[in-house]
Parts: sequence; structure tokens; C-alpha cells
Amino acid sequence: MTDEIKKIKEEMGDELFILAHHYQTDEIVALADAVGDSLKLAQIAKLNKKAKYIIFCGVHFMAETADILTEDYQRVLLPATDAGCPMADMADKASAEKCMAKLAEEFGENKILPITYVNSKAEVKAFCGNYGGTVVTSGNADKILKWGLGQNKIILFLPDQNLGRNTAYDLGVKLEEMAVYDQIREKLYYNCKKEDVKIILWGGYCHVHHFIMDETFDEARKNNPDYKIILHPECRYDIAERADGKGSTEYLINQVKNAPAGSKFIVGTEKNLVDRLIKDNPDKNIKILDSKSICRNMNKVAAENLFETLEDIKKGDFSRQVVVDKETAKQAVKALDTMLALS
Ligand code: 13P
Ligand code: SF4
Repeated sequence: MTDEIKKIKEEMGDELFILAHHYQTDEIVALADAVGDSLKLAQIAKLNKKAKYIIFCGVHFMAETADILTEDYQRVLLPATDAGCPMADMADKASAEKCMAKLAEEFGENKILPITYVNSKAEVKAFCGNYGGTVVTSGNADKILKWGLGQNKIILFLPDQNLGRNTAYDLGVKLEEMAVYDQIREKLYYNCKKEDVKIILWGGYCHVHHFIMDETFDEARKNNPDYKIILHPECRYDIAERADGKGSTEYLINQVKNAPAGSKFIVGTEKNLVDRLIKDNPDKNIKILDSKSICRNMNKVAAENLFETLEDIKKGDFSRQVVVDKETAKQAVKALDTMLALS
């Protein structure tokens, strides 16, 4: 099947462009024209003006972002149409608007600047664009949050509380100055004076990283004192702040790649990526922090549905196309363009 895919790719030339996230399997990564973290993939999708068909080997919000950033004549297709992101699904426009109304009651009108992690629905990006806010990825969260904190407003950070907390803490915001909004109970929690709240964290999380527990981290540290532990900032603060480094998937790859032979790393992120790091760096010692860190949604993309997507294109069947409606895209692009300009 991979040979068939390669043949079709040759036939289609520049008309076709296959993007893959670092969490994809080796099989898919080998077939992709570009592989990257969310920031890199968004930038590449925006730059490509030739491809009529962009196949996104990743999850739904990534294909949505690519659709927003590409031209009208370009179609973005997702091979596994049910590959979603449970964290992105933890926030939607209606609940974000409800939260905003609550925050206006609590802190006053026009006091809140919403910023969303790119791992979110297009309608949440549009919500942020609508209120003058923006988007971050794990690759630029520090830069963009720093900008946000300088805007003289309280930030509402959606949907990943862990990335928000870890990044804000590194920028000097104290834990007491961070509020949490429980989107299920529609309740706001904070432990300081109202005037001291700097950031409100939406209560979402990525189950792949959130459930890497303290015991797992402590045991890895105790049993491997000569290893550096590096992890993704979607991990909880309790372990992220004790790690030797944290950053996007691109950051994790570069840390390992650029280290001298014999270096030792324990990496806390999705298993497909760590398995590839182990394979690609035979001169280094690499282990996964938690072997249960598997994103089932990322794993839904396979050679079979990639092949079927190519067959669909030939037949003129675009049922796998991801389309963001024009009004949502118009607001979301404002938020995304601010991010790309700042990063
Ligand atoms: P990055 O590749 O941008 O670090 O994102 C990780 C992730 O969880 C994507 O779903
Ligand atoms: Fe979503 Fe987490 Fe999977 Fe990334 S790894 S797609 S954030 S569930």
C-alpha cells in the first residue's frame, strides 16, 4: 500500500502535499512531505500555494487550522475523519461566551483577553479573534503569553490549563495569581484578591500528558539519576516544574538530536515520537517516561485511510475534506495572524 501511495504522489506532483504531525506512526511520517509540531505545520500550510490537495495526517483541529490559513482553491483533507482531540473538545464557543459573561460580572467589562492553545476548535479561535485575543502553540506560548500579560488585561487561557499554568509560571506569574475556571460546573476558583488575578485557566487537559503521575516521575528520577528528564508542557505543573526541560515536540526532538553521543534522556510525551527518537538516535540512551502515553486519535491515521483519501481525490469524492465556515474562519484568522506575526 505504501508503494501505491508513493506512486500516486509521483503522479500528482505539486498538486498534492502531505503534512504529518510528530505523533504520527513511522509509516505515515515516511510518506509525508513535511513533518512538524503544530507551529511548524501551520506555517508550512500557510506558505504552500501550489497544492490543490493538502492531506493532514493529524487530528481534526490541525486540519481546521490548515483550512483557515490556506486559500479557497486548496482543499484540506483528514484521512481519519473521526480523529479528534479530546482536549480541543473541552471548550466550545457557547461555553466560552458564557464564561466571558461571568468574568465580566466578576472583573468588569472589557477586562479579559482570551488566548487559546492551537489545540482547540476553530470556533474557539474565532471567539478569541473576536475579543482581540490570539492563539499559541507549545512552540511559542512563552513569547505570546508574555505579549498577552503586557496588555493590561486578565488573560483567559483555553483549553489547556497545564500549558497555561506552566508557561505563566515561567513568566513570573505566581500560582496564587492564577484562577481556574471549571467549565463543567461553570465556576471560577481563585485564592487571592480579585485585583491580583493575572490569568484564568480553563479546566481542560490532554489525557495523554495529564495522567503522567508524580509517582511515575519520581520513580524515573530515582532509578535513573544520570538521565535528563524532558517533557511536553501539556504535562501537569507538579512534574513539569521538576523536569530538566520542557517544550514542544520540535523542542524535544532537537534536545535529543543536538546532544552529544552517549547522552541520556527520559522523554515525557506521546509514544510514537519517543519510539522514533530511540530509533533515530542509536548513539544515545533514550527512554519513555510513561509507556502509556498513547494518543489513540493520532493513531487513527494509517496507510489504509491515507490511500483511500488519495482514491477519493481521484474520484472527486471530498467527504474527508475539513471546511471551516467563512464567518468562523474570518474571526479565527485574525487570532491566528496575530500569533504568526508575534512568533
Ligand atoms: P506540538 O507538536 O505543537 O508540541 O503539540 C503537541 C500535541 O499535543 C499535538 O496534539
Ligand atoms: Fe489532543 Fe493530547 Fe492527542 Fe495532542 S496528544 S491530539 S493534545 S489528545
